[in-house]
Amino acid sequence: MKDILRTIYNRLPSRLKPAAKTIFTKVRPPIIDLASGDPDYQPPPQALEKATETLKKGLHYISPDGIPELRKKISEVIEREHGTSYDPQNEILVTYGASEALYVVFRVLLRGGGKAFIPSPHYPLFKDQIHEVGGKIITYPFKPNIAFNETLSYISEHLTEDVRFILINSPHNPTGRVLSKKYVETLAEFIEEKRLFVVWDEVYGKIVFEGKHYTLADIPEAKSRAIFVNSFSKTYGMAGWRVGFLYGPSKILSSIRKLHRAITFSLNPISQVAALAALEAGESYLKDILKVLRERRDVLIRGLSDIRSMEYWKPQGTYFVFPKLNLDKVSDVEFTEALLKEGVKVRPGSRFNGRNHIRISFARADVETIRKALLKIKHVMEKFSKTEQ
Ligand SMILES: Cc1ncc(COP(=O)(O)O)c(C=O)c1O
Repeated sequence: MKDILRTIYNRLPSRLKPAAKTIFTKVRPPIIDLASGDPDYQPPPQALEKATETLKKGLHYISPDGIPELRKKISEVIEREHGTSYDPQNEILVTYGASEALYVVFRVLLRGGGKAFIPSPHYPLFKDQIHEVGGKIITYPFKPNIAFNETLSYISEHLTEDVRFILINSPHNPTGRVLSKKYVETLAEFIEEKRLFVVWDEVYGKIVFEGKHYTLADIPEAKSRAIFVNSFSKTYGMAGWRVGFLYGPSKILSSIRKLHRAITFSLNPISQVAALAALEAGESYLKDILKVLRERRDVLIRGLSDIRSMEYWKPQGTYFVFPKLNLDKVSDVEFTEALLKEGVKVRPGSRFNGRNHIRISFARADVETIRKALLKIKHVMEKFSKTEQ
């Protein structure tokens, strides 16, 4: 299509070229978005209805801790899923998305400096926020082909007095890795032995295709050593609503709550009634979302398996795949730029501290679009592979 347009354009008399350029720009096919982590699905209809009702009633200041009904519901959901109870009053806090939750947690745990272990590759905000609050990071290897025991040995070898916590992100952005029950049990023993604290980002906790999202909350003895950060953005397609939450031991929560109150003063009631309705909508909504995402994932990885010089791991959760580019002369940034010229946008792995990889998201593309994108990815890879020979 692009070549045909260029040929027509070149043959036009020069007086017609400016107008033709405007028209051709408009007919250019839209960029396929395999970059964004903001899903294309809507929250459950009940959530939208409740939000509209609340808006009509008028909006006022409310408690910055989150509406009691939402905290109570969150507590029930945690108990149902992990078998552990968290007190809605003292151990759960509603936040302005997981982003604010992470920030207040880091700020409190890294008061006076200190270090945090974070996975490599990682979601870039972890590093940015930790640096922002004056902390330092130590990255630990967390690619799906690395056994978690090796990861823990690595942490053990690099452990220093000033380490304040280990950040766990499972299901993991960008690889889609989900920690198994066995590994979570090993982690629980490890943090008990080393007297360490864990901050667990579980924003993709409901987007798990194989097995269950198992965490330290499933292990009662580990409860006092972990704080969990969660969000409605991913599970319920509510990224723009800015509502998340955290839960953990009341002592730490009380310092975090103080900071959270000081910076927010109140929260948005619309988002919270919608979040409550989303939780109440429950399993059938989630089942449908997972079915759609699983189908997209399977089409994507089937297509990737057909592309030489690209090594991938099947994600067990999230809506990301993080394939490795087996190219010596082409960087991940160059690859993503070339792909964008072909009309497909993905993220370079170096953005996640994962050089020579790309992150492909299936959050916003249906299977037909994914199939089209795969042809482009294959084309770009073949072009680069030839230049390597
Ligand atoms: C691992 C991880 N944590 C936190 C967030 C932020 O979530 P929220 O929209 O709730 O701030 C994201 C968003 O992409 C994420 O991928």
